[in-house]
Amino acid sequence: MQPLNLKDKIEKILPSETKKVIYECAKIAHLKDYRIFLVGGVVRDLLLDRNVFDIDITVQGDAIEFCKLLQTETECSIIQIQEDLKTAKVRFENNVTIDFASTRQEEYPQKGHLPVVTKTGCVLSRDVKRRDFTINAIAAALNSDSYGRIIDYAGGIEDLKNKTLRVLHEKSFIDDPSRIIRGLKFSVRLGFELDKKTKQLQDNYLNAPNRDLSRMRIKSELQQTFELNSPAAFDRCVAQKIYKIFTEDANKNIKGQEIFDISAKYKTEIKHLWLVYLGVLFTCKEDAEFFNFEKNEKRLLIDALDMIAENPRTDDLFKVYKFFENKCIESILIFYLVTKNENAMLFLEKLRKFRVETTGEDLINMDFLPGAQFSEIFDLVLKERLEGRVSNKREEIDFIKTLKNS
Ligand code: CTP
Repeated sequence: MQPLNLKDKIEKILPSETKKVIYECAKIAHLKDYRIFLVGGVVRDLLLDRNVFDIDITVQGDAIEFCKLLQTETECSIIQIQEDLKTAKVRFENNVTIDFASTRQEEYPQKGHLPVVTKTGCVLSRDVKRRDFTINAIAAALNSDSYGRIIDYAGGIEDLKNKTLRVLHEKSFIDDPSRIIRGLKFSVRLGFELDKKTKQLQDNYLNAPNRDLSRMRIKSELQQTFELNSPAAFDRCVAQKIYKIFTEDANKNIKGQEIFDISAKYKTEIKHLWLVYLGVLFTCKEDAEFFNFEKNEKRLLIDALDMIAENPRTDDLFKVYKFFENKCIESILIFYLVTKNENAMLFLEKLRKFRVETTGEDLINMDFLPGAQFSEIFDLVLKERLEGRVSNKREEIDFIKTLKNS
């Protein structure tokens, strides 16, 4: 049974400095006649006994005005204001930073794109209606006269109990398809399932997806989801055809567990794990164009796609080395997962450790003229190394001398 008051959870889970700040805000809200609340992820996570890292406070009314009051009444300073959304960020004495948002109503005039705020300062019951899932629409009052009281307009408590993800209205995924990926993220992170109707709405959307949408949100949710490093999240993305949000046709042959296992082996080198999960789904370069990838992210994906297209099968160790040389680990893993070409493993496990010890200076001392010839010589030495005919610098130099004489 969920408690109908969040007070004990706040007490138990939040750090003491954060609690002190919240009490302070509650006192001032009470004195100055503002209603303030915790809403969304923070309430959900506290009710589930999960750690909470960011605290957002929702003010019924104008959050900026409330923060200005806080600034005059307590030791804190407003460090950021966004006038159009009526939000403010405040840093308190003990370095606790809290985002304050005004209650607001939103509309989606352009489906799939960012919403337009139609009103700020509305009643809380209107604010929660704009949210994604019922479990993210639960609020807890913070005013000192009602501190911790749960306000559940959408039936979120019941859904939390039943581990169910339920959208608040039929157009939710059409308005904001990133919610489908959020559903995937929460289902894996919390062990929840979509309720039947919500799954139906998801299927309906994925049968006729709208690709004219805000890619930024989709990208951010995919990143958060795949950074969970969850084979189940990947498998669900494929099984439920969630990839349809960003590509017509994904590569469906790989299992999440394979990605998990191979990534675990190289985890200290991988910087963009989520791109390994995402990249194996891609089948063409347009996929890598869909999102606004950073330059290095895009390079990594394009390299992988190029390598997959070429997919050389060769026993020539030098060719194998050159094929993978200068490619990042993520690209090589995507290539391996898609093609199962063992040359990738040969390179990662063995060949990439080979190094030519001879330097440019050594070549100059041997009367070679700097220029294109140098890289030709280094390549020839590398070949000798890879094929085991030389194994130290002295043998390299002896080999280079034979070149000079030939
Ligand atoms: N929200 C929404 N639709 C979205 C994104 C967010 O309705 N596409 C609402 C939800 O009520 C959510 C709140 O805005 O709880 C805050 O969003 P965010 O911080 O992204 O989500 P959290 O629920 O806190 O999730 P996470 O724990 O992953 O940060």
